[in-house]
Amino acid sequence: MDQKFIINGQQSLAGTIQVKGAKNAALKIFPVALLTHEPIRISNLPEIEDCRRAEEMLLALGHEVKKTKLGPVEIRYKSQKCVNLPADLVNKFRASVMFVGPLLASCGEVYFPHPGGCVIGAGTRPIDEFIDGFQKMGAKIEVAENKYRLTAKKLNGAKIFFRKMTVTGTESLMTTACLAQGETILKNCAMEPEISALADFLNRIGAKIEGAGTPNIKISGVKKLGGGEYKIIPDRIEAGTFSMLAAASNSGKVVIQNCEPEHLEALWALFDKIGVKYKLGKDSIEISPAKKLIACDVKTHEYPGFATDLQPAYTVLMTQAQGASLIHETIYDRRLIFTDSLTQMGANIIMADPHRVVVNGPTKLYGRKLMSPDLRAGMTLVMAALIAQGKTEISNIYQIERGYEKLDERLRGLGADIKKVSTN
Ligand code: EPZ
Repeated sequence: MDQKFIINGQQSLAGTIQVKGAKNAALKIFPVALLTHEPIRISNLPEIEDCRRAEEMLLALGHEVKKTKLGPVEIRYKSQKCVNLPADLVNKFRASVMFVGPLLASCGEVYFPHPGGCVIGAGTRPIDEFIDGFQKMGAKIEVAENKYRLTAKKLNGAKIFFRKMTVTGTESLMTTACLAQGETILKNCAMEPEISALADFLNRIGAKIEGAGTPNIKISGVKKLGGGEYKIIPDRIEAGTFSMLAAASNSGKVVIQNCEPEHLEALWALFDKIGVKYKLGKDSIEISPAKKLIACDVKTHEYPGFATDLQPAYTVLMTQAQGASLIHETIYDRRLIFTDSLTQMGANIIMADPHRVVVNGPTKLYGRKLMSPDLRAGMTLVMAALIAQGKTEISNIYQIERGYEKLDERLRGLGADIKKVSTN
């Protein structure tokens, strides 16, 4: 059933909003269940579409997934019945590629199509870093018609240098190397907090990983992993996006709770420059109305730099700031295309090239009929609609609900006029 959001903008936003568990941490923990016969419990799991797809993947591979009475989801090994990753699920989310290494390690074979996910890169988002890494660990690779078959009697430790800093690539090879024979050294690794959280959990269940959160990670292979509970860290992208929504709306005091402000230092450095009034607590952020916002350029960067996933929300914020700002998206080729929708809403945005736009502000935004192109851009259109004058309709909201749990309900808690309706 297709659904859309209907938003009447310019309501005053104030009060508290809770941040959920991080999607991009949650998706990486499900495949770990393929590496152990002990139960794994996941708490603070966001109820989002991508996590449902990850659960379906484990079910299809023969595992049991159920919600316990106390809350956490529990995954139990029943049988490893299949070496094919179901194409319909792989097409739906890119993190499905995380299942490849563990399945290869436990079955010696895995067959899968090129993974799907948000269309934010030119063509399909590549997985060459994963494939090269598995090959170095001893896998034989066959590729035909966009489908991959990997086989390996056993996986060995290897020295791997990532040509590109890749978040899921780092997580995938780090996880797979846990049961490989010998030592694996990963260099030029991504350093996102989700990677350290995954390594901490793997170490708690018996792995030997050193250096996660730095560019060099060493994994000493062990014979087996145990079970345990993984509490998902708060979603820093949600926390940052809600902070920017509150700043752009500039109408009341908003407190964002259950978050980890330390994971957003690049955003606070920008807030200092542009004049957002904010206060950080241990696990909360308070945003108060500011007299005036001043435009400031931004360039996306791997962690701890300014996250590409926060770029769309920052672009909307800049439509409300005084002056010109250059938004430079360095990670993806197609992540500025959504600015066309902001222009339709009244923003003054000039595209310099696929990686750079100039925003001239402040401008009023007006409600329009729009379609969510992908997860973060879709959330950003919601944000733009909330500060725009009049009514906005946003269709294709599956893309938004892939990553944000009960978004409409939580935003209504701040005073937003947003409802979800069926389109047929
Ligand atoms: C993760 O994607 C996140 N997704 C993305 O969030 C996020 O935008 C991205 O990291 C960067 O922070 C998940 O964690 C599930 P990458 P990931 O591999 O790991 C290129 C969201 O909205 N590359 O770090 O897939 C790649 O094309 C999503 O929540 C290769 O060339 O990103 C990109 O340009 C969107 N070859 C760059 O590296 C490879 O084999 C960084 O991508 C792998 C990646």
